Amino acid sequence: MKQTRREFLHGAAVASAALAIGPPHPHSRAVDSEIELILTEPIGTIAPEIYGHFVEHLGGVVYDGIWVGEGSRIPNTGGIRRQLVEAFRKIRPSVIRWPGGCFADQYDWHDGVGPRAARPKRTNFWVDASEWPAGARRNGPQSYDSNQFGTLEFSRFCRQVGAQPYLAANLRSLRPQDFWRWIEYCNSPANSTTLAAQRTTEGEREPLGIRFWGVGNESWGCGGNFLPEDYAMEFRRFTAWTPGYGKDLSFIGSGPNGGDLEWTRRFFARAAERGALWAMWGWGLHHYAWNTRGGRGDWGKDKSDAVRFSPSQYYELLADANRVESLIKAHWQVMAESDPKHAIKLVVDEWGAWHAPGSEPFSEALFGQQSTMRDAVLAGLTLDTFNRHADKVAMANVAQLINCLQSLFLAHEEKFCVTPTYHVFDLYSSHMGAQSIRTEFLGPSISFAHDDQRGSLPGLAGSASLKEKALTLTVTNPSLDTPREARITVRGGRVQTASATALWAREVTAHNRFEEPRAVELRRAETTVREGTVVHLFPPASVTKFAMALV
Ligand code: AHR
Repeated sequence: MKQTRREFLHGAAVASAALAIGPPHPHSRAVDSEIELILTEPIGTIAPEIYGHFVEHLGGVVYDGIWVGEGSRIPNTGGIRRQLVEAFRKIRPSVIRWPGGCFADQYDWHDGVGPRAARPKRTNFWVDASEWPAGARRNGPQSYDSNQFGTLEFSRFCRQVGAQPYLAANLRSLRPQDFWRWIEYCNSPANSTTLAAQRTTEGEREPLGIRFWGVGNESWGCGGNFLPEDYAMEFRRFTAWTPGYGKDLSFIGSGPNGGDLEWTRRFFARAAERGALWAMWGWGLHHYAWNTRGGRGDWGKDKSDAVRFSPSQYYELLADANRVESLIKAHWQVMAESDPKHAIKLVVDEWGAWHAPGSEPFSEALFGQQSTMRDAVLAGLTLDTFNRHADKVAMANVAQLINCLQSLFLAHEEKFCVTPTYHVFDLYSSHMGAQSIRTEFLGPSISFAHDDQRGSLPGLAGSASLKEKALTLTVTNPSLDTPREARITVRGGRVQTASATALWAREVTAHNRFEEPRAVELRRAETTVREGTVVHLFPPASVTKFAMALV
């Protein structure tokens, strides 16, 4: 839908009456911000894997969300929900992490291979989570895992959507030998070993060629409560002399919880002592925006759910998410103490908003939550940060794909919809594989008070990338009430044409539901190019993408 400037101003005025949108702005505004794209300062190629995803056996993610079963009345391809595959393919997903999360360190991959009818039913890691929504069936696949969705089902899902698989190994409760055998089952040449022959029997003669392997998950917590030195020893045992079957395996270490720099420092120092660091391709970093001081489980007065929040909770959540930039910089610096040439990159393999319970799309969806325009702005801020640090961040995986935390999709039985976060991934997909370009944002910033503390956010934030003559700029305006008009200039080039697409809604709490699946969707936005410069008005709480052609 194309939107005129007048419609936008009218929209901003209407929106001001709603909960989180501020005073109207009836007059045309003057340019108050400058965005400068500096083509002569490339940062690095934006790894497509930054636009990665995460799937865990948790609540309604796998069973009901992805896997409906071959005999289901819900349209499926080999048991996998077809509507999900069709929508997911459109945003060109690069990589999907599976099977957890905390679940991974309890999962025995042997349970999920072989004839489905003979697979064992097991207790799910999350069976006793205190956050199960009221009324959830405690004996369904969400509490007990039927193992119908295992290694081959997951790799077929990846193939259907065109993504690479990233498998997370169980380091807490299985042996290194089980890890190597899993790699053998997946990657050994056709009929070369008993496991390769088994794979052939199950319909996959050719090796799956899986490159990305996580070595444990949150080993400082649910993955074993290790000390960094102990985890370094386990990491060495798991990764030393591992056959790759012709594939250059990329091992990902279980990195810190947010700002725990000592976990990074002590692991790197101890792993480097025995040369084990060089087996590692990426160092995981998990960062959730909690909207609470205490994190998960602290659903006290400062915490909002996904759809009911005050302006100060809105800003506090975004500022919490925005901390990811300082975490990237700080861990990067510490990693250099043992890896001065930065052979190892950062993998932010869990990120997103984690709201208080209350907006689950259905009762079995443990940690299920709605995704509003607030979450879309959060996704824009975060993906722009990763783009700006394309030299440091090699992969990132939003948590989690469907029916859980910051999801792109909601699905239950026959019902299905995409969320505003999906649209952000759609908008940003042209950054994948492009050269990140240094981009300066000048203009007023936002300051806010939350729980007696002051915080701030940039007035506008974003990133830019170049692929041949195609320039992509993405920008978020996190303000709840202030539209910003910006002049966009390109140093080292001249813009010939520019088109803009935006995600915004009249209320920041707007979200898609099964009953109203298109409440939030992308709109064409009007933009002006004058003598090589673009002038644009950014609505409050919006995410905008420009596709520009250079002369
Ligand atoms: O994404 C939900 C959980 O959050 C994951 O299982 C775990 O790794 C993290 O604590």
